[in-house]
Amino acid sequence: MSAPTKNAKLLAWVEEVKNLCQPDSIVWCDGSKREYDEMVSLLKKLGLATELNPAKRPGSILFRSDPSDVARVEDRTYIASKTKEAAGPTNNWIDPDQLKETMKGLYSGCMKGRTLYVIPFSMGPIGSTIAKIGIEITDSPYVVINMHIMTRVGTKVLEVLGNGEFIPCLHSVGKPLAAGETDNVWPCAPIEKKYISHFPEERTIWSYGSGYGGNALLGKKCLALRIASVMAHDEGWLAEHMLILAITSPDGERKFVAAAFPSACGKTNLAMLIPTIPGWKVETVGDDIAWMKFGADGRLYAINPEAGFFGVAPGTSMDSNPNAMRTIEKNTIYTNAALTEDKDIWWEGIGYDAPAGKIIDWKGKEWDRAGKDPAAHANARFTTPASQCPSIAKEWEDPKGVPISAILFGGRRPSTIPLVHEARSWNHGVFMGSIVGSETTAANIGAVGVVRRDPMAMLPFCGYHMGEYLAHWIKVGGKTSADKLPKIFYVNWFRKTKEGKWLWPGFGENSRVLKWICERVAGKGKAVDTPLGFMPTEDAIDISGTKVTAEDMKELLRVDTTEWKNEVVSIKEHFARFGEKLPKELADELAGLEKRLG
Ligand code: OXD
Ligand code: MN
Repeated sequence: MSAPTKNAKLLAWVEEVKNLCQPDSIVWCDGSKREYDEMVSLLKKLGLATELNPAKRPGSILFRSDPSDVARVEDRTYIASKTKEAAGPTNNWIDPDQLKETMKGLYSGCMKGRTLYVIPFSMGPIGSTIAKIGIEITDSPYVVINMHIMTRVGTKVLEVLGNGEFIPCLHSVGKPLAAGETDNVWPCAPIEKKYISHFPEERTIWSYGSGYGGNALLGKKCLALRIASVMAHDEGWLAEHMLILAITSPDGERKFVAAAFPSACGKTNLAMLIPTIPGWKVETVGDDIAWMKFGADGRLYAINPEAGFFGVAPGTSMDSNPNAMRTIEKNTIYTNAALTEDKDIWWEGIGYDAPAGKIIDWKGKEWDRAGKDPAAHANARFTTPASQCPSIAKEWEDPKGVPISAILFGGRRPSTIPLVHEARSWNHGVFMGSIVGSETTAANIGAVGVVRRDPMAMLPFCGYHMGEYLAHWIKVGGKTSADKLPKIFYVNWFRKTKEGKWLWPGFGENSRVLKWICERVAGKGKAVDTPLGFMPTEDAIDISGTKVTAEDMKELLRVDTTEWKNEVVSIKEHFARFGEKLPKELADELAGLEKRLG
């Protein structure tokens, strides 16, 4: 096939990769339905994809990955900036020349027996001034079909690119095939050969050895967060691990909210929430990533750079997230879910017992219902088009983005952090974001009840020094007048009683907190000034019709000075990691908090 571009840099790069990786053939992806269907047929023929029951899950397929290739591999993920200092204390660093040398050795001949696919993709609506173009070279047809859903792929992207700049994203599963050999299991390399590498100064990504989403769909975490965070720093905008939602009040007032929570804290559920308070409506703009830039009016406008959702399946049910369940009814790629006898999918927490008959677990074996092992992997995923989501907002592909009125931070904190509090200022809000953390549970390795700090939920996704990243946030706040900036809030749906009972019902009931946030944004909403910031009065959040009692509300909003003094000690330890790079403004905010606590 002749190349559908005249972009000299792109042509030279494809030629260079061809010579290094030695594929059998090259295919330029056009993003068409025909191309998607051809890849699916190929994957089915190889036995890697299982077609699901068309009467139950039309257009959907299931994959089972290698047991070593089920999640992001943070200890194999590198920020190979020129200096270790630039990557900072929270990233893995290797000297870029050394890393390239090692990886070139691995890439050499790694596509033998395979096809090299060139995927032109746009993160963000094609042609939007906020969007960025990437080109992923991969030897994985699984990656091609996932990229079709998660990004905008195709010839149109090459037209918009013309002779312009793109972000090169190189990927290989790291398993060359011998003559006549075909894949009969999920191809990948052993863990010690997996590398997810970022070269921030060159705006380049090299990924080797893994086929799993976050490691292989390079538009997502690698480009839209790690590389984009560096670009955002240099260009004065924000690339964040945030959902975006639209909320409309009964009198038709519509606002947009962005929210950052560490992985597995319910971002997708919040983005697709169905309010329990009458008359309110929540719609989805994005569930994982927000790129925010200033508009001509001085406000921050956000786009969702993705085109699909790559969500965690276990725990997703008609109770926890009906909009997600409806989105994945068709045209969905499932990875590591269990397979029922009538060729439907099933997972733990789907809301009903596994149906009778034989269940094949995520490892491809008959599942032992009485045994300890789950049928689906805990990180089983669905890849599904955002356009199928019943709650998708009409603005979700607006190239200008949507104006953000509020930013929420949060994590899983059984104690200390109240249900909601509001920052006094932008800098105070940045401080709140900088101390985001989740408490470890029995499911984590290591001590239970330890707070793992994850500033702005970006710890695994920031492509440079976290201290400089925080300084960038402070600087962004100085670019416009305070009244134009989003108001910042800290929420905690996960507070428990001393006996371990959840105090807040969560899910759709979170709309009650969103309502108070909207009122605050509108300059209304009853609030009290506390050492932490502004908090709702005990009657400000409407709990009518819920099981939450006035006593519970009191506890949810309680500020325990002793707990907060311990929190200050823990924040000091956290901030110490950033040394000289900790912005003075954040040290001042911490000192202010300490003083207010008395
Ligand atoms: C994700 C994550 O997959 O944050 O979105 O891990
Ligand atoms: Mn995420």
